[in-house]
Amino acid sequence: MAVERTLSIIKPDATRRGLTGRINARFEEAGLRIVAQKRIKLTREIAENFYEVHKDRSFFEDLCTFMTSGPVVVQVLEGEDAIVRNREIMGATNPVNAEEKTIRKEFGETVEANSAHGSDSPETAAREIVFFFSEVEIVG
Ligand code: CMP
Repeated sequence: MAVERTLSIIKPDATRRGLTGRINARFEEAGLRIVAQKRIKLTREIAENFYEVHKDRSFFEDLCTFMTSGPVVVQVLEGEDAIVRNREIMGATNPVNAEEKTIRKEFGETVEANSAHGSDSPETAAREIVFFFSEVEIVG
């Protein structure tokens, strides 16, 4: 196992319902350290750039509208196998398919308003972390 970093986003449906603290507790209880974090409101341009890989998908426009509908909390999580571990803690993309006790099962509302985003590979994590954070903002 290796210590990794992954990019996490607590989405607008979760910040709107005041779930940031409860979601962060899930990460910390699972052994992931929050080594960077900021609450921001994405612009349309930032959302479209961040989700560029999905630009040809039917849900792209709605996804960008949703992600700019309220504050998000962007964060870097660090720990052993953090990328896969975070995806286990979040659960499946669609809350209907997520396992019990996962973030998306317990807090997610729909496949779009699914409370959390996490990088899906080391390559994606590297891109997504520098998308939001400079090196001095990440304190391990
Ligand atoms: P996320 O991990 O943020 O990455 C892309 C997002 O697109 C995904 O979580 C979902 O919230 C959202 N999305 C909306 N509709 C779909 C869909 N039909 N299939 C996959 N992802 C979707």
